[in-house]
Amino acid sequence: MIFGRVKPLDAILATAEKKSLHRSLGALQLTLFGVGCIIGTGIFVLTSVGAQKAGPGLLISFVIAGAVCIVAALCYAEIASMVPVAGSAYTYSYAVQGEFLAWTVGWALLLEYAVGASAVSVGWSNYFIGTVVERSWGIDFPTWLSAGPVFLGGQPGGFINLPALLIALLMTGLLVIGTSESAKFNAILVAVKVTALTAFVVLTLPEMKTDNFTPFAPGGLFGGFGSGVGIVGAAATMFFAYVGFDAVSTAAEETKNPQRNVPIGLIGSLLICTIFYMLVTAGAVGSIGGQPVMGADGVPLPTGETLATQCATAQFAEALVCSREPLAHVLHTIGYGTVGNLIGYAAFIALPSVILILLFGQTRIFFVMARDGLLPEALSRVHPRWKTPHVVTIITGLIVAVAAAFFPVGALADIANAGTLYAFLMVAIAVWQLRRIDPNRRRAFRVPAVGLVATLTVIGCVFLFFNLPLEAMLVLPAWTAIGLVFYGLYGYRHSHLGRGIVEVHEPEIHELAPEIPGVDEAR
Ligand code: ALA
Repeated sequence: MIFGRVKPLDAILATAEKKSLHRSLGALQLTLFGVGCIIGTGIFVLTSVGAQKAGPGLLISFVIAGAVCIVAALCYAEIASMVPVAGSAYTYSYAVQGEFLAWTVGWALLLEYAVGASAVSVGWSNYFIGTVVERSWGIDFPTWLSAGPVFLGGQPGGFINLPALLIALLMTGLLVIGTSESAKFNAILVAVKVTALTAFVVLTLPEMKTDNFTPFAPGGLFGGFGSGVGIVGAAATMFFAYVGFDAVSTAAEETKNPQRNVPIGLIGSLLICTIFYMLVTAGAVGSIGGQPVMGADGVPLPTGETLATQCATAQFAEALVCSREPLAHVLHTIGYGTVGNLIGYAAFIALPSVILILLFGQTRIFFVMARDGLLPEALSRVHPRWKTPHVVTIITGLIVAVAAAFFPVGALADIANAGTLYAFLMVAIAVWQLRRIDPNRRRAFRVPAVGLVATLTVIGCVFLFFNLPLEAMLVLPAWTAIGLVFYGLYGYRHSHLGRGIVEVHEPEIHELAPEIPGVDEAR
């Protein structure tokens, strides 16, 4: 039945071999590429959202989320070096767990990439409005154009986040005409981000006061099921700050000596980010304080109308947890306004590339699903001149833009995390299954102690998932149910595999432009 529809690995690998990509990436390049994909809205914007959940304990939240990502990254690395084809977790799952589960993974990846791109668009908008429009140009940006409505968790007086909508559309337009990011440009953006975070750390750490770290965990370790607060609640949200490392695993087949360089690239980029995230958090919380706005019940207020209303009062106007551009805000508060503006500009310049990478990932997954017959074939139409899957890119871009226009960054990040955690969990299971089903197949990279690492990944993903706010948790089953209706009505009947066609269209996807953003020069 549907669980029996497994795409033969040999068919996938045969096509992958035809690509014969040049192996040219070294450990350092891979690490830089990873850092470029990872650092974004998570640290530049969600730091205030995380502090509202955990207070200074946010430091520990980053360690927990980073640890889950490291074990998941190892699993990704093995399967990506073995099944080095487009489609990420969806393709891996199709080859091991069959079409039905692969569909649910592909569908959940839409949350990771598309909703993730929306979250980064909102984060970009915060810095654009705060640093560029208001502080640099001195123009008071209208509230109704700067955030979604308050009943969706936006600002009082908010209606639509126009800059977020526009940046998402702009990035979509660039992808449609085949714009990619050169490796050199990616390296420059990495340098911009790393310099900005380093400057922040250097200026804030000397301003740290130990008093600002007490109480350390005002929301407790566990805030309670569905509350999304506490140290682990914040870990579930800050997991978003690490999303994007899976892009590194997709470059496994272009890596020299992957057995050594892929884990160095993955773990190296995750460790660098974890250290930066902890130092930045220590600097932010330690210099101006990061205590949450508490509700009448003595628990940190969740994102929503009450918190937004409190943050609009004079009492909390300067609080870290209420800032929409926390890193710039901290520097302004401690008297480094110019550097604060420069950091705002760094976010303004660098965040669009994260949107581009996430949007790119999404369009390629849709493209592969349409090529497999699970989505209407029209979606996989390639533009004759630009050689891009323009139909699917435009549809994805519109969804991303609308979500960015109306929802707050924290809620979008939580929803993206729900989908990502499901995909990571399925990848960990697939790696383990594949070791049993097909133990002798060549693996460019093998996870050490695979049983332990896969189990830790599954436990970590389940643990973080159940510490998300209830609404974000519920989105996954609801979204999956919608997906299954689509599958039942369309994919099940039109599936190429179900109709006995096992050809793989990989060569066509590699004729598309652009290839993975940021690694082009390696080819
Ligand atoms: N990790 C990426 C970010 O924080 C998605 O923006």
